[in-house]
Amino acid sequence: MIPEVAVIGLGRIGLPLAISFADRGLNVLGIDKDAQRLQAVEDAQMPFQEPGAQDALARVRASGRLTVSDRVADAAAAEHIVITLGTPSFSHIEIDISDIRSALDDLLGHLRFGHTIVLRSTIAPGTTDFVAGYIAKHRGFVIGEDVFVAHAPERIAAGRFFDEIGTLPCIVGGVGAESGERVGGLFEVFGAPIVQTTPVQAELAKIWTNILRYTNFALPNLLMMDCEQHGANVFEVIELINRDYPRGGISMPGLTAGTCLRKDFAFSEERSNAPGMLLAVSRVNESVPLFLVEGMKRRLGSLNGRKIAVLGLAFKGNTDDERDSLAHKLVRMLERELADVSVHDPRVQTPSQPFEEAVSAAAAVVVAANHDEFAGIGRLRDVAALTGDDALIVDPWNCFGAGQVFAYAGELAALSPNGRVALP
Ligand SMILES: NC(=O)c1ccc[n+]([C@@H]2O[C@H](COP(=O)([O-])OP(=O)(O)OC[C@H]3O[C@@H](n4cnc5c(N)ncnc54)[C@H](O)[C@@H]3O)[C@@H](O)[C@H]2O)c1
Repeated sequence: MIPEVAVIGLGRIGLPLAISFADRGLNVLGIDKDAQRLQAVEDAQMPFQEPGAQDALARVRASGRLTVSDRVADAAAAEHIVITLGTPSFSHIEIDISDIRSALDDLLGHLRFGHTIVLRSTIAPGTTDFVAGYIAKHRGFVIGEDVFVAHAPERIAAGRFFDEIGTLPCIVGGVGAESGERVGGLFEVFGAPIVQTTPVQAELAKIWTNILRYTNFALPNLLMMDCEQHGANVFEVIELINRDYPRGGISMPGLTAGTCLRKDFAFSEERSNAPGMLLAVSRVNESVPLFLVEGMKRRLGSLNGRKIAVLGLAFKGNTDDERDSLAHKLVRMLERELADVSVHDPRVQTPSQPFEEAVSAAAAVVVAANHDEFAGIGRLRDVAALTGDDALIVDPWNCFGAGQVFAYAGELAALSPNGRVALP
């Protein structure tokens, strides 16, 4: 089978994309250097959770439309080469494009007239032009006429891939005359609107989509810290802000992180004319674990030798993705207080304790990821039954619905039937 599309990097973005192309009838070659990942795809077993992916993977493996390889150069057999490699940020506040450069170097000698290279990874402004320039410099192709290069950023949220691939506008920024059209034609297979723009505008639109979210979450996180200082209830203040107010609203607090939000702002900061604002946003979000630890210490005294249960290790609710999760930072900070930390997460790969064992007789229970398994007053009552009345319940997400960041389990008695703590 000659592939029509090659997808390089079968990670959280690349694998669902490869499956989706194949499920729309294209012959797809998926490429990754991780042998375990390739074996999982060959066995039609999803290596991570993504709703809808397992059935679709089984379908496209059975139909023979998705095959795999560990050689980047094999991608040259396809007309369209989509790059979905990781793009972390260095601690220097600078994009790390070493994976993309290494794949490009593997591909260079195999590129021929008519090839299309799509950068689907999140990249710093200017990277698409760099890739086009690199290919032109080393192979002499005219980009946009001989070989086509475009950025088509992925803006889908983890857990919603198969819903959003067919609905979210697909932004395409092509280099030269024809690149945008060619790549738009490829992505038309999903049925979502194609929006053509320049490469740098596509890059900016993607990273600023994430910067907007990262900043939006920093505001309620900072408000949560302010409220603690003033003895106010952040959830009540948020309700006061948002109720029947027609000009936007404020989000809810939480442990804001994850591999995309934590790094993508750095792609703007690396060349910013007004550096610092987004670093401040990052510092607010990064200080939430410390804020929670300090809040526990203010109420319980020293945590040395106290059992603290952490519920959820994923970076947010209802995912098994632990990369760059602040829950792990929270656990590390608690351990530095010499607390006896127990953890429970039914979704992630990191081994954890059963719920009852993790929570029993804990001095404090922190909801670090708002999974559905922890939601609701019923679950809070389960926790209280295992800890006793004196345990501190720490719930920055308001996952239990009690409307308190810090509250004692005994306060459960004051809960009204709708789950809110009765006001004095
Ligand atoms: N995860 C998300 O929710 C999300 C959302 C939007 C955009 N993005 C962006 O998409 C890109 C990919 O992110 P991800 O989360 O899928 O990353 P990932 O780390 O899950 O996947 C990268 C894959 O590439 C493979 N790989 C690395 N170097 C390779 C090489 N030289 N040759 C072949 N394979 C190689 C790795 O083994 C891995 O399987 C990043 O730029 C990210 O910022 C991610």
